[in-house]
Amino acid sequence: ETERWLARIAEAATPAGVEAIRVEALGKSGAITQQLKQLGKMSPEERQTAGAALNRMRQTVQDALGERKGALEAAELDAKLAAEAVDVTLPVDHGRTGTIHPVSQAMDELAEIFADLGFKVATGPEIEDDWHNFTALNIPAHHPARAMHDTFYFPKVEGDPGSEAGAGAPKLLRTHTSPVQIRTMTTEAPPIRIIAPGRVYRSDSDATHTPMFHQVEGLVIDKGITMGHLKWTLETFVKAYFETDDVALRFRPSYFPFTEPSAEVDVRCAWENGQLVIRSDGDDWLEILGSGMVNRRVIEMCGLDADEWQGFAFGAGIDRLAMLKYGMTDLRPFFEGDGRWSAHYGFSP
Ligand code: PHE
Repeated sequence: ETERWLARIAEAATPAGVEAIRVEALGKSGAITQQLKQLGKMSPEERQTAGAALNRMRQTVQDALGERKGALEAAELDAKLAAEAVDVTLPVDHGRTGTIHPVSQAMDELAEIFADLGFKVATGPEIEDDWHNFTALNIPAHHPARAMHDTFYFPKVEGDPGSEAGAGAPKLLRTHTSPVQIRTMTTEAPPIRIIAPGRVYRSDSDATHTPMFHQVEGLVIDKGITMGHLKWTLETFVKAYFETDDVALRFRPSYFPFTEPSAEVDVRCAWENGQLVIRSDGDDWLEILGSGMVNRRVIEMCGLDADEWQGFAFGAGIDRLAMLKYGMTDLRPFFEGDGRWSAHYGFSP
């Protein structure tokens, strides 16, 4: 009988199968258990021989069950480990890795160039109030310059007192980075040397205009600042940014309410094989920024003594600066987030 049990145990294919045989043989009403119960009805002599044989069988079957169960469990674990094995030699899929955006790259370079000239980076809110965006920049209510800005206004909230300085006027998306001039002059004591890169918004959209774009503002307030300082600073900046000393700038008289006098600055350039290159003997001019001496009315509105403090300011479009440097011809892909575009212009992870 022992042999029969052992044969069946050897045939069991799973730990559950082994368990079923155990119940059948050694469970409460199992075959071997039943036989052991019969021992009580035997005579002492019979019991001695039959008992010893039965107990040997019980022990042998129990050992065989345990061994078979252990072996099957080990095999099951091996199979599971094999199935779940990771092949560390397979090539790895890195997924799609982003690149730095050309605008961020340009901003980083601007910050670095101006840091060398002693300028700190300043910031201001993109949701701005009327006073900082217009009034304090010498653009009072109903001034025609306001109409030129294509401003996005927020709906006026009933009962909203407006900002401390906005006199109840609705908030707006800043149309330029110039309000950071005001925020800096009203919170920091001169001398001031800052640049303020950031997003600006105008309700305008075509191949060369997007409703959101980027500007960098520059502001210097100190004693005895002249247009000579402005010229030197911009020339030094343009040379560093375009990585060439072969630069010629042209200061063209212009008008901004917050600077007086004002100048738009063009850089000399040439077209070579459909690419724009910055060079002092080019036969084209390209406008790159607006600038001027800070209007004394602005300095006064910020609470400073305009006889003591003077300065210059400038504002440039960063998207435009990035396009010029990296050779891009269309503004719109800047805002589409297509990695193939950045890769085409040499921005790789
Ligand atoms: N804020 C002006 C614009 O957006 C640029 C500018 C800045 C001009 C500072 C002069 C001085 O067009």
